[in-house]
Amino acid sequence: MSVIILGIESSCDDTAAAVLKDGVILSNCIANQEVHKLYGGVVPEVASRAHQENIVPVVDMALKKAAVNKEEISAVAFTNGPGLIGSLIVGTSFAKAFALSLDIPLVDVHHMQAHVLAHFAEDPKPNFPFLCLTVSGGHTQIVLVKNHLEMEVIGQTLDDAAGEAFDKAGKMMGLDYPAGPQIDRLAKLGIPRFKFPEPQVKNLDFSFSGIKTAILYFLRDQVKENPDFITENLADICASVQERIVTILLKKLRIAARLHRIHTVAIAGGVSANTGLRNGLEAMGKEEGWVTHVPRFEFCTDNAAMIAVTGYFKFLKGEFVGQDVSPVARMRF
Ligand code: KG4
Ligand code: ZN
Repeated sequence: MSVIILGIESSCDDTAAAVLKDGVILSNCIANQEVHKLYGGVVPEVASRAHQENIVPVVDMALKKAAVNKEEISAVAFTNGPGLIGSLIVGTSFAKAFALSLDIPLVDVHHMQAHVLAHFAEDPKPNFPFLCLTVSGGHTQIVLVKNHLEMEVIGQTLDDAAGEAFDKAGKMMGLDYPAGPQIDRLAKLGIPRFKFPEPQVKNLDFSFSGIKTAILYFLRDQVKENPDFITENLADICASVQERIVTILLKKLRIAARLHRIHTVAIAGGVSANTGLRNGLEAMGKEEGWVTHVPRFEFCTDNAAMIAVTGYFKFLKGEFVGQDVSPVARMRF
């Protein structure tokens, strides 16, 4: 009999639902919350309310697109954390009620594990073991992936996440939230001629708070001299910010791969949509003899396909949770 998983994601500001049949994605739907642009970042209370409005239509759309009746679903997988608690509560409550009404199992999913398993949403899938640089708005990690469910974080940020660095740098330049995709687009038109400092962090860990401050002081000093400095040099500033963030990420990834003697290397999470990082990984992969894996854009940023995929692997192992499960804002792997 077929295994059909309904995946639900609501950890931050995107409400998403997907249907997966025997490991194949049938639908992957998402409702973005444009409202946060007005505030320059995600407002948790606003996000939670928007999830409440979006969740039913998004799940309905995912089922219709997949041409699946709810009675055919084998289990409901949902993001249990980490994330914004008010946002997580909406997805978790919906998933619990849905599973209860159909008397089917409930599978809790770790959001960051799901970003890694987005690589199994379609072919070609990476061979184990592989390294995954997981870079999003809330996390920056190098993960040693031993099998579908066994993963070890071998490096992580000590302060800001890479996506946060993009977003905060963008805010200083007057760009809308989230600034990452705009910096990416503008960087293509510029030259990385401004040099921001490289943080000195031990082991495989990262730090982005220093470059955030360096960018702030740099812009402040330049604007003092020329009030139009940012508008006149926007593309070059974006190219410089992106180059620094990407070189920090790739440098540690190279060290990690050499240290662990791993030749299959992947990237995941929202920042893996970045053109500079994607091109940089490919170039480094050629130098180092890696097989590289970069997900399609729709599987990089938050999506429910990755939740359904993770739910599928957990379902096959019988890893279910009861109706007493609660979401957790901060959680380890
Ligand atoms: O994984 P994600 O969608 O949500 C979280 O779990 O955080 O990641 C969102 C982050 C934001 O910081 C956004 O600016 C960044 O990913 N991002 C990008 C790009 N697309 C999204 N950063 C740089 N370049 C991009 N093309
Ligand atoms: Zn994410």
